[in-house]
Amino acid sequence: MTKYQNLALTLKNEIQSGLYHESERIPSLREIQNMKDCSLTTAKEAYRILEEEGLIEAKPQSGYFVRKNIRETLAGPRNHLFETVSKDDRIQTIMRDVMNPKLLPFGAAIPEDSFLPLSQLISGFKTALLYKDMHKYGDLEGFAGLREKIAQITSRNGFPLSMENILITNGCTESLSLSLQSCTNPGDTILVPSPTYVGIFQIVETLKLKLIEIPYRKEIGLDISEIKRLCRKHKPKAIIITANFNNPNGVLLNETTKQELADIFQSEKISLIEDDMYGDLHWGKTRPRPLISYMSFSKSSPPSFICSSFSKTIAPGIRIGWIGSKNSLKTVSKIARAYKISHNLPTQIAVFEYLKKHSYEKHLNSLRRTFASNFLLWSDALQTASEGNLEIDVPKGGLVLWAKTNTDTQKLLSETKKKGIIFAPGILFGVSGQWKDCLRLNLALVWRKEVEKTLSDLGKTAKGKNKNDYKS
Ligand SMILES: Cc1ncc(COP(=O)(O)O)c(C=O)c1O
Repeated sequence: MTKYQNLALTLKNEIQSGLYHESERIPSLREIQNMKDCSLTTAKEAYRILEEEGLIEAKPQSGYFVRKNIRETLAGPRNHLFETVSKDDRIQTIMRDVMNPKLLPFGAAIPEDSFLPLSQLISGFKTALLYKDMHKYGDLEGFAGLREKIAQITSRNGFPLSMENILITNGCTESLSLSLQSCTNPGDTILVPSPTYVGIFQIVETLKLKLIEIPYRKEIGLDISEIKRLCRKHKPKAIIITANFNNPNGVLLNETTKQELADIFQSEKISLIEDDMYGDLHWGKTRPRPLISYMSFSKSSPPSFICSSFSKTIAPGIRIGWIGSKNSLKTVSKIARAYKISHNLPTQIAVFEYLKKHSYEKHLNSLRRTFASNFLLWSDALQTASEGNLEIDVPKGGLVLWAKTNTDTQKLLSETKKKGIIFAPGILFGVSGQWKDCLRLNLALVWRKEVEKTLSDLGKTAKGKNKNDYKS
């Protein structure tokens, strides 16, 4: 993609995200040249593209303006190829605010301590320290007992694996990173549905990959024909997808979509990296099968992976995650060898002991029930206080609430922070700022007066805000 195409895309995203409104004057060519640090020719060519696409118009003696009725122009499927994905320092600052340990933890998607089986885990650690070889190097792929337990869990969830298909990782983050490294090279293009978990951008940036965001659609989840078109046009090497309760919007893909996607990945030879962190936290009767279980593996199948961890269900700090792969575990192991000789053995044994002695399923059931009922309490408190001014998505699982507001939530956060209220602003979950009027709230807190009051204060602050409130 040339510089002017890139600039045109950036400007289009800015119009799309509401930075410039219909009929509003946009910066002149000279102004954009300064603002985006580009040549005048690049600015002119970018504006020419936007004119051709019907998004802006030139008015003699007055400058360039966003066209009226661009909504229809923009209503069609949208996606953007990003040559570089950079979540700048500003994002790190927001993350620091969002993780502020002194405030109620509405910002991060992490369960409060009382939801975690900590005493049972501690007893697992005590037993682990008595293991004869716990101080030695273990197998690179991980402690056999734990891998077996994870293979059982994955098989129960609808994707039969044996322990030979499992590699233990330092949380799901490392699972995603190793999987990506084993099926891409720097400069390759990958697909990521949007909005998505912010950590993915950091991995993609570090691995020097190009990224195409595919927007989720309210009614259908993902537009299959659009994905087919993108695959044929851009020949992506891989897709990272959370088919079960996407973080942050909670989308669950239905079985038909999962099968259609699996067929596309097979036929177009696109590696599937499934992030199944939230599949276990379904709120319905049955656990949805992972997307990867819809693939029919043969010799010609692309390398495919399922990634997950115990970070949301046992404890985030233990850093126990895994990769499951029927056809590429050897490649993953080879790459993992560049990072470690083996994984921390006592922690693996402690988790194994926990899984051996206690019913993980019973524990999950309790989390599922609590998060489902918290969603109702949270949305009720927010909607009452905001007088219906928030558009709250209704998920079927996970531990977060995603809502659309009428305003820029990064700026709303600067205001609520002063009142001691934090949340994750939408800007974190996309590359082009297209979710900046959304916010994500953690549901994994114990319902209490303080929580109710905070939600109510947040709803009241969000109420009546509109796009122009924070314009400088
Ligand atoms: C979708 C998703 N994937 C991966 C991660 C990272 O998980 P871990 O802490 O196990 O590295 C998170 C954490 O919030 C997440 O939400």
